[in-house]
Amino acid sequence: MEADHTEPQSDDREPRGVLVLRTLAMPRDTNPWGDIFGGWILSQMDVAAGLMAGEVAQGRSATVTVDGVVFHRPVIVGHTVCIYAELLRVGRSSMDIRLEVWTRDLVHRWEPERDFVAEAVFRYVAVDAEGAPRMIPDNPEFFTRS
Ligand SMILES: CC(C)(COP(=O)(O)OP(=O)(O)OC[C@H]1O[C@@H](n2cnc3c(N)ncnc32)[C@H](O)[C@@H]1OP(=O)(O)O)[C@@H](O)C(=O)NCCC(=O)NCCS
Repeated sequence: MEADHTEPQSDDREPRGVLVLRTLAMPRDTNPWGDIFGGWILSQMDVAAGLMAGEVAQGRSATVTVDGVVFHRPVIVGHTVCIYAELLRVGRSSMDIRLEVWTRDLVHRWEPERDFVAEAVFRYVAVDAEGAPRMIPDNPEFFTRS
């Protein structure tokens, strides 16, 4: 699923979805120039999507695709990284979860501004104990099958 790049990516709006993960960008997550690796951010997004997927699927699930990855702004050491997840679609065994990554600098300055730094859509598949796809059970807390 492609990200909608026609939509303005304003930092003025509120993050979409629910806050599922909050962490800190540490010096160990940088490249030799001191910038945070995109791969570290992606792994945090995968953890965040996995947390929601596990709740929706009520059990084991696995990442099958990652689409529409965009890094809008750099993440700096010391930034608080907040990842919001929104359930876009539930299929038979798969689900699409859109993630937004927002950061706040709580180390160098103490200000309420936050930056919209990255987004992606993760597709997770609910799997059984053998790793085979299983049907996602009805879960009124998250979705209603129509
Ligand atoms: C996820 C996995 C179990 C799916 O197995 P599969 O044999 O392709 O299963 P199916 O063909 O029955 O598809 C199951 C669902 O996944 C979706 N799917 C499978 N491959 C897909 C792909 N390449 N793109 C988008 N969706 C896909 C199907 O549309 C289907 O969705 P639905 O049940 O909601 O209709 C299997 O591909 C796998 O184990 N992948 C590795 C997962 C993993 O280890 N991830 C961690 C990163 S290494």
